[in-house]
Amino acid sequence: MWMETVAPTDGTDVDPKVRSSVIVAGATPLERLRLAALGGLARAVAGKHLGPVPFPVAAWMETAELPPADVQSAVIEALRRGEDPLAEAYNACISAANRRQLGTVFTPSEVVDHMLDLVVDNLYGRQPACVIDPGAGVGAFTVAAARRWHNARVIAVDINPVTLGLLAARIAYERSQDARWARRRIDLQLADYASALPGLFAADAPAPILALGNPPYTRTQSLTSGYKRDAERLRKVVEMTGHANLATVFQALTLEYLRADDLSCMVLPGSIVYTDAARGLRRAMWSSSRPVEIHRWRADTKPFVGRNVQAAVLMIGPERSVARPIRLARAESMNGNVELIQRWTMARDKPPPDNWFWAEDSFDQPDAVLPLTTFVTIRRGTATGANFFFFLTDSERAAFPDDVITPAVASLRRFEGTVMTQAAHRTWGGADEPRWLLTLDPYKPVPAPLVSYLAEHEDTVSRRHLSTQRREWWAITELPRPDILVSPLTQKTFKIVVNKAKAVASNNLLGLTLREGNPAPLAKWLRSIEGQRELRRVSRRYSGGSFKVEPGGLKRLQVPRSVVAAVIGRSPESLLTPELPL
Ligand SMILES: C[S@@+](CC[C@H](N)C(=O)[O-])C[C@H]1O[C@@H](n2cnc3c(N)ncnc32)[C@H](O)[C@@H]1O
Repeated sequence: MWMETVAPTDGTDVDPKVRSSVIVAGATPLERLRLAALGGLARAVAGKHLGPVPFPVAAWMETAELPPADVQSAVIEALRRGEDPLAEAYNACISAANRRQLGTVFTPSEVVDHMLDLVVDNLYGRQPACVIDPGAGVGAFTVAAARRWHNARVIAVDINPVTLGLLAARIAYERSQDARWARRRIDLQLADYASALPGLFAADAPAPILALGNPPYTRTQSLTSGYKRDAERLRKVVEMTGHANLATVFQALTLEYLRADDLSCMVLPGSIVYTDAARGLRRAMWSSSRPVEIHRWRADTKPFVGRNVQAAVLMIGPERSVARPIRLARAESMNGNVELIQRWTMARDKPPPDNWFWAEDSFDQPDAVLPLTTFVTIRRGTATGANFFFFLTDSERAAFPDDVITPAVASLRRFEGTVMTQAAHRTWGGADEPRWLLTLDPYKPVPAPLVSYLAEHEDTVSRRHLSTQRREWWAITELPRPDILVSPLTQKTFKIVVNKAKAVASNNLLGLTLREGNPAPLAKWLRSIEGQRELRRVSRRYSGGSFKVEPGGLKRLQVPRSVVAAVIGRSPESLLTPELPL
């Protein structure tokens, strides 16, 4: 089947005596020579820690020359630094276009971590007895699963002897660094995943089995008719059309073979939520009692699946007594993390919609969330460059005219309330609270009472960097008056204050300005347990246990739909630009 037509794996093409290249589907003759040379690198990295490998992999490793010593040590050093030099070496040997034949794209670690966390939520406290990595490549999932679940057997299945050999080298490297890896049971199977499925999910295999990975996105046109026929023979219930790509075929077949306690979590093309080719898969998920969750990246971000393909993670949990609503989310990769920027659910008590991400009631969900940035502008308060000169106490300002003084907040340390009214602003913190900002107009003459104050401070303040940027060193003209003040540093609870006094904030504070609506429901939610948890999630944590939130962190903050609706006084859908399917 697939192996005969696409990538021979029985060793006949890798005869150690005559071979000078290795067969990897899609690779040119020159690329095959390069890939053959990689065998020496894999042998050098593996050293004496190499475990059992399939024959073609062993032949590939044994017949290549060892690379120069400095190359070997550079690769080991990169592995020590936590990089993935084996994936890089593979990618350097074969062009991206030719890698596509086998759908070879390596998954970034943040996506792997995100999926492992999702799986843990669906394991209900259990550990998988076995993890199967369909299309294991150089082992992003195999290695992460072996790290996370020490006692699980991990089976890495791939049709490509080179990536499987690099994975063998990677595992050997882990063994050389940590003796406990000797006890991890990791099997490498050089095989077509679809044909291996019935054996992998045999009825008497220990449960639960977890199928975890990023199967190859090989387009239907690249699959031979023989392969499609064989896949059809393996099928039991889930309908497949002839147009399904290989990843969808792998997922549909996996669902067929999952036993009640087994589960799967795979990266798939985002189009599975609406294409005809995946209709059978969607129907099977809809009618099952398994938890189903899909996190889909935006169409214009193709972070890892490859050219022109939108990515989604599909989690299918173990069978439950009741079918819970399907959980859907839009995902984004940001700063080395996967963030869910919008979540909602879809009950399975009616016929399934054609497009799961385009259902009419998608947003009518209590647990849907929206990014704070959809209705709020976030910015730090005013930077003066010399707060002691610009922020004044009651007695310091007493001699100055009212029109050069603006209510301000330099810090919230001594403010105990939740709303800064004008009355509260006049009294809080005592007489030495610097609650007034000197706001002289650069286009007007300096009022007489201020002439000596300016002369007294000119030497110290006028040469400071920010002073030199202003039209007059003593004139601050940017005076944002945010609706909500956020104290960015805390041991435990972030202080959130509604700024009814319209005071100008100092740059010790962050300010939230609503584009429309009432700030009170947002401030209330930010002070709630859930809001504070969300604030901590987007904060940096320091070693003493304190948290600091920056404007960039607030931009990642997610607000429940119900809170947004209360703020803007109408349904929040209108704030969103709809996402069109590809
Ligand atoms: C998208 S890559 C994923 C690699 C790796 N799991 C990762 O996430 O970094 C898909 C992998 O599937 C493998 N593959 C392609 N066709 C296959 C088949 N019929 N059976 C098993 N593996 C296959 C490719 O060789 C490639 O390593």
